[in-house]
Amino acid sequence: MTDRRLEDVSDRNLALELVRVTEAAAIAASRWIGRGKKNEADGAAVEAMRKAFDTVAIDGTVVIGEGEMDEAPMLYIGEKVGCGGPAMDIAVDPLEGTTITAKGGPNAIATVALAERGNFLHAPDIYMDKIAVGGGLPDGVVTLDAPVRENLKNLALAKGVDISELMVCMLDRERHAEKIAKIREAGARILLLGDGDVAGVIAASLPGGGVDMYLGSGGAPEGVLAAAALRCTGGQMQGRLMFEDDAQIERARGMGITDPSRIYTLNEMAKGDVMFAATGVTTGAMLAGVHRVGQGAVTYSIVMRSKSGTVRYVEGHHNFAKKNLGV
Ligand code: FBP
Repeated sequence: MTDRRLEDVSDRNLALELVRVTEAAAIAASRWIGRGKKNEADGAAVEAMRKAFDTVAIDGTVVIGEGEMDEAPMLYIGEKVGCGGPAMDIAVDPLEGTTITAKGGPNAIATVALAERGNFLHAPDIYMDKIAVGGGLPDGVVTLDAPVRENLKNLALAKGVDISELMVCMLDRERHAEKIAKIREAGARILLLGDGDVAGVIAASLPGGGVDMYLGSGGAPEGVLAAAALRCTGGQMQGRLMFEDDAQIERARGMGITDPSRIYTLNEMAKGDVMFAATGVTTGAMLAGVHRVGQGAVTYSIVMRSKSGTVRYVEGHHNFAKKNLGV
């Protein structure tokens, strides 16, 4: 009984610890907002996040990261992070929206998800076709296999609204032209994002997110991060990896993906007790961006946990004179 309680307390602390990690990455990236240098912005976020992990009490392994060991100097797949504790798998995107940050546009975040070992889909760095809706809807109300019009019809029916009231969110990409045309033909509205589909998927699940359904392809690693968030907020999501050639299929096989055409459900992408945190870098619908003031900064973060379903918004006031955040 006592042990159980202790375990709960340390789990809870861990979820909040994650915010420190995303705050550090967001603050570091914020120095690069609008400077036209996406690699520098990303590098700063990665380095700050890597350093912040040093004091987190976990025996962590990066499973969704900055790339393979030979491609990325830090937070590469397989890298060990944390100062010791329970064995956890980690999915990171220290700067989700590198181009947005470089251009000073909206919606960039620093994000991390954590689960017990073996609970995240080891998604390769390819595209994933995604569909997501919020909680409280009948199971399977939308699916990747159904035509766009049918998904919209079923969703409108389940929500008790007209299709014309639905807002679909997707990345503004040429490859989505056909889907965009079909959504408009069916009468629904579309919120087109320049970048940043983790926040786009989450918006479909948050009350007041202004989005009824997320649709379209984006990064597969981002898909797993979004799935982790949705496990906490409640909602439905499906993802299908989009392989371009046999070499990609072969590589994925080595990561444990045996059926290339499989549709993954939310629980297959992020299982068990999952924790998720994100801090705004530039202001978006979900989070305000880093607000730098004199020798400090204010950050806005979201932290959540699937076990309790609690979603917290954390406002952090940072004093660089007292705490060196390398900025
Ligand atoms: P970066 O942070 O790497 O710039 O990714 C931004 C992003 O928009 C993701 O949110 C999304 O999953 C992916 O890029 C989509 O890729 P593409 O720009 O090739 O369509």
